[in-house]
Amino acid sequence: MATTISEVTTRRTVLVVDFGAQYAQLIARRVREHKVYSEIVPHTITAEQIAAKNPAAIILSGGPKSVHVEGAPRLDPKVYESGVPILGICYGAQLIAHQLGGEVGRGSRGEYGRAQMTRIASSQSTLLTADLPDVQEVWMSHFDAISQVPAGFTATASTPEAPVAVLENAERKIWGVQYHPEVVHSPFGAQVLENFLHNLAGCDASWTMGSVIDEQIAVIRAQVGDKRVICGLSGGVDSAVAAALVHRAIGAQLTCVYVDTGLMRKGESDQVVETFKRNMGIELIHVDSGAKFFDGLKGTTEPEAKRKIIGELFVRVFEQHTGGVTDAEFLVQGTLYPDLIESGGTDGTASVIKSHHNVGGLPADMTLKLVEPLRELFKDEVRRLGSELGLPDEIVWRQPFPGPGLGVRIIGEVTPDKVAILQEADAIVREEIRLAGLEREIWQAFAVLPDIRSVGVMGDERTYAYPIIIRAVTSDDAMTADWARLPFDLLERMSSRIISEVDGVNRVAYDITSKPPGTIEWE
Ligand code: XMP
Repeated sequence: MATTISEVTTRRTVLVVDFGAQYAQLIARRVREHKVYSEIVPHTITAEQIAAKNPAAIILSGGPKSVHVEGAPRLDPKVYESGVPILGICYGAQLIAHQLGGEVGRGSRGEYGRAQMTRIASSQSTLLTADLPDVQEVWMSHFDAISQVPAGFTATASTPEAPVAVLENAERKIWGVQYHPEVVHSPFGAQVLENFLHNLAGCDASWTMGSVIDEQIAVIRAQVGDKRVICGLSGGVDSAVAAALVHRAIGAQLTCVYVDTGLMRKGESDQVVETFKRNMGIELIHVDSGAKFFDGLKGTTEPEAKRKIIGELFVRVFEQHTGGVTDAEFLVQGTLYPDLIESGGTDGTASVIKSHHNVGGLPADMTLKLVEPLRELFKDEVRRLGSELGLPDEIVWRQPFPGPGLGVRIIGEVTPDKVAILQEADAIVREEIRLAGLEREIWQAFAVLPDIRSVGVMGDERTYAYPIIIRAVTSDDAMTADWARLPFDLLERMSSRIISEVDGVNRVAYDITSKPPGTIEWE
């Protein structure tokens, strides 16, 4: 049996019950910002399953349904009797009213966006503390509205379309808010959440990156004992942080493998070696296999075929070079919490291998057991953890980079010459973004090399050379993205530098396609 966090810590969890809202993840992250660990659970969870987790509090998320429609999700009614503090948000608040004997009216107009919420003067609120203004702005998104609170509850605030915008029963430790305290458009939302977590539910503010490190060190040590562990480094944030954490736990029992596909960004391989081998003293097998990849890709132009070749070669090279580490029993994988939520495996029973591998895909028949020290964390938490572990900013704040690397940013056949051109252009794009101070605002910014050439004139000479396409997007999760409104003078600097510094390029274009309909990468 693998050791679990609960066996090595006394930390208490806030459960966020997911009623199908786009906001469940955001609520979980907001709770964690108050240094309280939180986990998302499906609404089908039973009172017994909840009791087994011994949560410090429960938050019921919003959801798209009306409580009146058939099949609308419900909470196991026994949960309300458990004595665990509960906060219902939006649909969650309506559910409290509906299930405990109040009334939810079918809305006539609904309320979407900003609304003015007013404290009900005659009421006493434990949720809206005295330091909050009597009238505050809140973010609403509802059609139905609670019209009557259940017996024992008090309505403590209202908006024009929601006579009960806040309901509470401090004795039963159940509170509900019709609005969304988790979004930034509710300026006092964070304060209300904090009050619920720290004062009403009595949660300690003890979940910090330091505590995550301590816990994970104990879990990793208990899981792997004295066995050897291998980790594929991709140069990306997740595998880097996972490796650093495992190394902190078991030191020399860890061997890292870095497969240099020849399709990495400029300077990337040197930086990986420098950071892990020289600075951190991690045993690193650096496999320089660019020639193999170029050979394998020769003559192939179809995007999926290119991806497949790169993925398969990667697996072969990885296996070849870990074959020597015969006593390895474990493989480190940088799986994050959202990967598990999306694949439905948040109950901790299933270990799911990412579909978007940072390392390009690992063998399906692999017998190694997985070590996944980041499986409870969101991306921004992984970055903070990386800094806490002493990784340099260039690695911690690195933008996502696809497993197949520059191979999917070179349209058509991939050759060493084209990679060299793209590496130089890409380095300029990223450097200019950094100099403009936009690195942390832009999700990804990079260069693409298309398979065409165009006519230009440089000096008095006619040129016939490649264009470079700049791609820069803002995004929260890469599922959707917007093209970044980069300042014209920044684009101009990138363009003139690329044309004058990169041989073989005579034109620069900027991609102004969002996702959808475009994808972030070009292939
Ligand atoms: P697209 O192009 O599908 O990309 O909009 C979404 C995000 O995923 C990254 N990406 C990959 N990441 N292996 C990865 O680890 C891959 O094969 C891969 N393909 C795309 C892409 O950079 C963007 O962040």
